[in-house]
Amino acid sequence: MKRLLILGLIVGTAGLLLFPAQPSVSDEADDIAFVGAAKCKMCHNKSSSGKFYDDWEAGPHAKAFEVLKDDEKKDPKCLKCHTTGYGMKDGFVSLEETEKMAGVQCEMCHGPGEKHIKSKKDNVIPHVWKPVEETCKKCHNEENPNWDPNRYTDADGNKTGFDYKQAVKKINHGAVFEAIGKKPPMTGDL
Ligand code: HEC
Ligand code: HEC
Ligand code: HEC
Ligand code: HEC
Repeated sequence: MKRLLILGLIVGTAGLLLFPAQPSVSDEADDIAFVGAAKCKMCHNKSSSGKFYDDWEAGPHAKAFEVLKDDEKKDPKCLKCHTTGYGMKDGFVSLEETEKMAGVQCEMCHGPGEKHIKSKKDNVIPHVWKPVEETCKKCHNEENPNWDPNRYTDADGNKTGFDYKQAVKKINHGAVFEAIGKKPPMTGDL
């Protein structure tokens, strides 16, 4: 019995050494499941606190799966940037199995929501990702076959494929903040 226990300890320790946790935006993020935008709608689509769901639905990210052709909708090369949580816990698998995770949803910028959706007004469980420049550049980079290196003109007049300052203004729910009379704290310059 004792010998088995020691063997178990050795095997377990070796396993940890051989397979360390994957690095991610937050160490916690790997275990937290993706839940899909429908869950966010329950709490984030009110005129009093902001219609974030309607705002997202009207934007380009909500349509990111629809722009793919039939065969592309099955191509792992495309899915990682055109769906939600592809290859991650409870994320997109296929159109048949996980239709509600198609498109680039809230959680691709705010992080997997399994913990946060248990938030109460007086106990808000923070998200594990913050939408920063690096979050966007996971998809907005030259690996994208539609990458246009001249899409944006930056503040110095140089052409660039992605300019965070301009892109985030288009995407940080500016209309929602305008409607509720509150500025986004992270970008603050709308
Ligand atoms: C049960 C209700 C509830 C659900 C479901 C919910 N939230 Fe929230 N969320 C809140 C509350 C309460 C706050 C605090 C601010 C407020 O009152 O609007 C908040 C704040 C936030 C914030 C700002 C604070 C932070 O952690 O960054 C973001 C972003 C956010 N929610 C995104 C989401 C997303 C994405 C989903 C879906 C995965 C979601 N929420 C689902 C209740 C909820
Ligand atoms: C690294 C992330 C990434 C990968 C991989 C990727 N895309 Fe995209 N795709 C994007 C981004 C970001 C955009 C938005 C356009 C932009 O800003 O460059 C986009 C836009 C598109 C569009 C819309 C083009 C337009 O001008 O409206 C189509 C169609 C598309 N991608 C098809 C594909 C296909 C097919 C694949 C797989 C072969 C693929 N994408 C793989 C990130 C990616
Ligand atoms: C393309 C990325 C992206 C997507 C997709 C996205 N958001 Fe956001 N969101 C942002 C950015 C950027 C901000 C502004 C920065 C900040 O204040 O956190 C923001 C801000 C917010 C806030 C306010 C945070 C605060 O500090 O008051 C809430 C709530 C929120 N988003 C909810 C959602 C919900 C719900 C969805 C989906 C229905 C969604 N977002 C989809 C990028 C995104
Ligand atoms: C998971 C991948 C992914 C992430 C993360 C992501 N995007 Fe996108 N984004 C896309 C895809 C795919 C499209 C094209 C969708 C379409 O054509 O319908 C797109 C389109 C856009 C567009 C419209 C095209 C353009 O370049 O003018 C803007 C603006 C944009 N994204 C900004 C952002 C910003 C800002 C962030 C970070 C806060 C972000 N995106 C995060 C995948 C992503």
